[in-house]
Amino acid sequence: MIKKKTGFWLQVALATAVCASTQAAEIDNVEVSDRFCLTCHGTDGQGNIGIDAPRLAGMEPWYLRRQLELFRDGLRGTHPEDLTGQEMQPMAEILSDESIDDIVDWVGTWEYQPAEITLTDGDAERGRTLYQTCASCHGAQGQGNEGMGAPALAGQNDWYLLTQLKNFKAGYRGYERQDQYGSQMRMMAQAIPNEQAMKDLVAYINTLGRPAQSNEENEDMGITSRVGQAAASVALAGSMAMASTQASAQDVIIHPNSGTFPIANAVEVGPEASIIFHSGVTPSPANPNAERGTPAYYGDTETQALSVFTKMKADLEAKGLSMGDVVKMTVFLVGDPALDGQMDFSGFMNAYTQFWGTDEQPNLPARSAVQVAGLVAPLMFVEVEVITAKRR
Ligand code: HEC
Ligand code: HEC
Repeated sequence: MIKKKTGFWLQVALATAVCASTQAAEIDNVEVSDRFCLTCHGTDGQGNIGIDAPRLAGMEPWYLRRQLELFRDGLRGTHPEDLTGQEMQPMAEILSDESIDDIVDWVGTWEYQPAEITLTDGDAERGRTLYQTCASCHGAQGQGNEGMGAPALAGQNDWYLLTQLKNFKAGYRGYERQDQYGSQMRMMAQAIPNEQAMKDLVAYINTLGRPAQSNEENEDMGITSRVGQAAASVALAGSMAMASTQASAQDVIIHPNSGTFPIANAVEVGPEASIIFHSGVTPSPANPNAERGTPAYYGDTETQALSVFTKMKADLEAKGLSMGDVVKMTVFLVGDPALDGQMDFSGFMNAYTQFWGTDEQPNLPARSAVQVAGLVAPLMFVEVEVITAKRR
């Protein structure tokens, strides 16, 4: 019966689409918006298990906006096996930027509705252990992290969380490369071993309740998401604010190497640090006037490594990070024909030690270095890829 009704509303929505594009303000009319959203998402925006439509009331505005854009642009809900996504996708396809603005404002006025707890066969204790991986993006309390693009999980209906985990793992969601955040989450879901583990995770998320401090409140205080998040964790610690500061100071722990070689044995990253995966960095030409493909063009390994690290430093700083935030590094070196095709490891180290293990920058990353057959350009010898974890 619900399915039939859905079909009916779908037609209504498509009919109003004409108004939406010619006169965006139409959607301000609550009656139109009602048909658009509440038919499926529940009369109070609490979600509707009958058609797998999630709770929208209380959703973070930035996340709501992104999902509407993803659906509209065909980056979500277009996989042939994604039956629930396909119900939503046409609803968003017809939205203009203005109507998305209006909807985000409108949904922002709805009162938060408590999450529905339906799951009976999940082991929350096991879920707590598994959730440690999730916390780095979704927050220790499942409160979400705008800086990481990861929405709040706490407070969402459990049946919906479970469907989404299955959809991510199966590749029905996060399948488009342009869907940067979705593909990130897809990777994470692929690492969840099976459905029982998903249920355990969701059972644990059910225990978190609604996060103490919502994003909107942070925005009202005019602070950025990162600071907001830190504020939230202090708030959660309540009167033990000092203890919380101490805990976050330990969020990145460097386990030293037993010898003197300037890399870490391991780096441990706690749940409150935000982890960022950076693409590989390659050198700029040392001598752009030289002919491409000649040794003078990129220079030797040391020259190239210096160029890579100089570029990396500027790039990290532009993102509000520093070389000291690098926790893992992978180094790709190509053999130099001038050295009988061997990689010039010591040349590389001469450049590396100018940036790591110095007095100004003592933090050492965990690191691997390998020789590869080739990189994107002839006589390019160095590419370096890093992962950073931002200490809060
Ligand atoms: C025909 C029923 C239907 C209508 C009408 C509808 N939705 Fe949905 N919506 C769904 C379903 C089903 C899903 C779950 C999609 C999935 O499983 O990926 C969904 C998902 C969403 C999501 C993703 C939430 C998340 O946590 O990722 C958002 C946001 C959303 N809808 C907003 C809206 C808004 C705003 C409207 C009104 C413009 C609307 N929907 C109208 C059925 C509908
Ligand atoms: C690397 C960061 C990262 C990690 C780690 C991560 N996620 Fe996510 N997750 C995201 C992002 C980003 C999104 C939003 C994707 C989008 O915009 O479509 C997301 C979305 C989700 C959603 C969909 C929520 C909704 O409302 O539709 C669920 C459920 C989820 N994650 C659960 C988990 C669980 C459980 C774990 C741990 C096993 C986890 N995530 C680990 C980044 C992460």
